[in-house]
Amino acid sequence: MSPFRNRRRPAQPAPERPAGPPTTAAPGSMAVTQAFFDRFADFYETSETSSFPWRLNLRHEAIVAQNADLFPGARVLDLASHDGRWSMAALEAGASAVLGIEARPDLVANAESTLRGYGVDESRFRFVAGDLFEVLAREEPQVDVVLCLGFLYHTLRHNELLTRIRRTGARHIVLDTEIHRGDQPVVWLDAEQVERQGNAVADEFSWGDTVLTGRPTLAGLTLLARAQGFSVERLSDWDGLLRDNPQADQVRDYRIGRRATLRLSRS
Ligand SMILES: C[S@@+](CC[C@H](N)C(=O)[O-])C[C@H]1O[C@@H](n2cnc3c(N)ncnc32)[C@H](O)[C@@H]1O
Repeated sequence: MSPFRNRRRPAQPAPERPAGPPTTAAPGSMAVTQAFFDRFADFYETSETSSFPWRLNLRHEAIVAQNADLFPGARVLDLASHDGRWSMAALEAGASAVLGIEARPDLVANAESTLRGYGVDESRFRFVAGDLFEVLAREEPQVDVVLCLGFLYHTLRHNELLTRIRRTGARHIVLDTEIHRGDQPVVWLDAEQVERQGNAVADEFSWGDTVLTGRPTLAGLTLLARAQGFSVERLSDWDGLLRDNPQADQVRDYRIGRRATLRLSRS
C-alpha cells in the first residue's frame, strides 16, 4: 500500500535532540558549523532559483533543524518541491517517505536523479509533475507534515491551498514565505510572469503569461490558517540565525522581515 494512503503514523516520542549531527556550534548558539547542503552539494547546481549556500543552509536551520521533532517517522508532503532540496532534507531528518509535487517537469527529473545519486531508497520518495492544486485534488494524499516552502506568495488561491492541506490530515505545516509587512489581515496583490523558474505556472485562472499572486501579512496568514483549523505555533528564530552568522549573504528578505518561516499546527 502506498505510504500516503490513510494510515495514521504511530505517535513518536519527541527526540531529545534533532536527528543527524548537530548543525550549530553549541547549545544556545546558532552559528552553523555543519552546513546541511555542503553534504549534498549537488543542490547548489540543480536550480536557478536561490541556491546560494548561505541562503540554503540558513533556511535549512529555520525549516528543518528548528522543527526537527516533526520529521522522524513522518510522511511528508513537499509542495512545489522544485529540485528536491527539501524532500532530501526531510528524509535526512528522519521522514519515512516524501511525496513532492512540482509543476516544472525538468525540476522533477532533477529531483529524482539527485536523490537517486545520493543513494536514497526509491521506496522513500515520489515526485509528481503537475499543478499542485490538481494533484492534491486528484490524489488526496494522507500525510503527517506538509512543507509549503517558497510557494504561498506565488498564488492567490490561499484558501483553496489550505483547504487541500487540511484534507491531507497533516498535523503540522512548515511554511516559509514572503509576508507583507503591516498589522492588518490583508493580502497584497501582485502579478508575476510564468517564464521564471521560481515563479507560478499558468493555470486556469491566469491570462497570457501573467499569474495574479498575493502576499498575506502575518495577520492575514494567521486568519487564513485559522479558517482551516490551523494555528501559528511559532516562528523560526531568524533573528538568532542572522545574529550568530553575521557573514551570511543572500538573506536580506529574512533580515528585513519580508520573509519568515512558520510552524503551524492543527488547532
Ligand atoms: C520559489 S520556488 C520554491 C522552491 C522550494 N520549495 C524552496 O522553497 O526552495 C517555487 C516553486 O513552485 C513551483 N510552482 C509554481 N506554481 C506551481 C503549481 N501550481 N504547482 C506546483 N508547483 C508550482 C515552481 O515551479 C517552483 O519550483
